[in-house]
Order: sequence, then structure tokens, then C-alpha cells
Amino acid sequence: MYKILAKKEINNLVDQMTIEAPLVAKNCKPGHFIILRVDEDGERIPLTVVNHDETTVEIIYQKLGYTTRLLGSMEVGDAISDIVGPLGEAIKIRGSKRILAIAGGVGAAPIYPQLKAYHNEGVSIDLVLGAKSKEYLILTDKFRDICDNVYLCTDDGSVGEKGFVTEIASELLTHETYDHSIAIGPLIMMKYVVQLNKKHNLKTDVSLNPIMIDGTGMCGNCRVSIGGKTFFACVDGPDFPGEEVDFDELLARQNYYHDEEHICNLEMKLK
Ligand code: NAD
Ligand code: FES
Repeated sequence: MYKILAKKEINNLVDQMTIEAPLVAKNCKPGHFIILRVDEDGERIPLTVVNHDETTVEIIYQKLGYTTRLLGSMEVGDAISDIVGPLGEAIKIRGSKRILAIAGGVGAAPIYPQLKAYHNEGVSIDLVLGAKSKEYLILTDKFRDICDNVYLCTDDGSVGEKGFVTEIASELLTHETYDHSIAIGPLIMMKYVVQLNKKHNLKTDVSLNPIMIDGTGMCGNCRVSIGGKTFFACVDGPDFPGEEVDFDELLARQNYYHDEEHICNLEMKLK
């Protein structure tokens, strides 16, 4: 069992939680994730390790589905049944001097450990951080500690520029130059960021979060097409070169699962 040591509600949809997991923590590197089960009958959910020390891991999750809401109902002192990790490939730090990072919504959580690793290597970082509105911008102060510039934007204009991250990045790219880019957020955002960056000859690393079950490359659920070949996000990723990702295939699959989830919810209501 894995004890919850701290928990904070960042906004009405997103929580931050610190969990005691020494064996996972001491092997964690930026880009790694865990799969947890809240109880022994529960579904498995993958979550990026946002921070860790010698004995604890910190996660940030959006309470949208049944399991993340259940996780959100747990309190400090409660224990989580299983944690498997660290999983995935740690990021490979590129030899860049200046990068453009773009984070959308809760995608700010998985981008944070990556940017921290680049910052520790002395890399200069400009970040465009976007969300629906002011309350959904997360980790803003932590990003200010490690980035040279943080450009905030919201869909409703409640703070920062009004508009999508792509609009702010597009403006920046007219007068700034970067060695490479990292983008994490909704799939559709990453797709358009990659398209934008391509026009400026900028390569983009993206992080993919397809449905995962075992997290060890056995079930095939997390398959993604990269450069026309099949990879498993759980063992080969979750980070991939954005130019090679088949976003349309992933978006079609995401819509299929959302429809399925919608049908299941309706069926449960009807029972
Ligand atoms: P959201 O829908 O509020 O979007 C966040 C920001 O992304 C927006 O404010 C906007 O700036 C940008 N964006 C959205 N649609 C865009 C478009 N069509 N073009 C350009 N920019 C666009 O984000 P949210 O609700 O916080 O995110 C939830 C989604 O993020 C879920 O689908 C989740 O699966 C995904 N997610 C992905 C990762 C990952 O590792 N890739 C991690 C966590 C969450
Ligand atoms: Fe099963 Fe990746 S989660 S193969």
C-alpha cells in the first residue's frame, strides 16, 4: 500500500498529490510515469511523475473519469493499493541552447519535469502556457522559477493574452528563434503546434497519452503510429518526435473511446 502524504486541490478539476513510494521514487527520471490502481478492483491509470525526492512521488490529475474522481476523494493518510513504475523512457536531453515550450491545460503537469531537466542543463526556455481560463492555469509560479519567459494565455482572456497557445506561439516565432520545441497538452493542440513549428523549421517533441492497460508493452492498447511504424507509448514513449506522429489516427481513436465512455455513462444512468 502507498500512503498519501499530501494533497492539494489546484482547481475544481485538478489535484496535486504526494505519495510515499520509495522504490519508484529513487529510480525516477524526467519523462517517467506510473500506473496506479486506487483499490485492488480498480482500473489502472497512467500519470506522469511531476516531482519526486528519495521516497515520494508527486502526481497531478484531472478529475474527469470514475477513477480520477475516486482518487480525488482520497485524503491524506489513506493508501493507494498499487503503484507500478517508473515506466516509459526517460527523456533524452537534446543539445539545445534555447527552446520553445508549449503547454495546454493539464499538459503543464507532464511538461514541468522535462523543463526542469533542461533548466538544470542551463538551457534557456520560453514557455507559452495556456488554459481555458485563469483558474485552470497550473504551476505558473513553478514555471517562472525555471523559464526565462512565461507567456500566459487563456481561451476567455481572463488572464494573459486571449487565445490559444498556437496564436501566442505563432506571434513569438515571427521574431524569436529556438533550437527545438516541446509541446504537451490536448492531442489537437499538439497537432497544430507541430504544424506551426514545421513552418519555422522547428522540431517538436510531444508526449502521447493513449489508453494504457499493463504499461509493459504486452496488451497493445497504447499503440501509436510514428513515421509509419507501430510503437507502444508505454515502453517506447510517451515522448515522440511530433513530425512523425499520426495525430489523425490518435484523434479518431480518442473520439471512439469518448463515445464509448458516453454510452457507458448513459447505460449506467438507465440501470
Ligand atoms: P483544454 O482543452 O482546456 O486545452 C488547453 C489549451 O490547449 C487551450 O487553452 C488552448 O490554448 C490549447 N488548445 C486547445 N485546443 C486547441 C486547438 N484546437 N488548437 C490550438 N490550441 C488548442 O485542456 P485540458 O482540458 O486541460 O486538457 C485535457 C486534455 O489534455 C485531455 O484530452 C488529456 O487527455 C490531455 N492530456 C494530455 C497529456 C499528454 O501527456 N499529452 C497529459 C495530460 C492531459
Ligand atoms: Fe499495454 Fe502499452 S499499455 S502495451
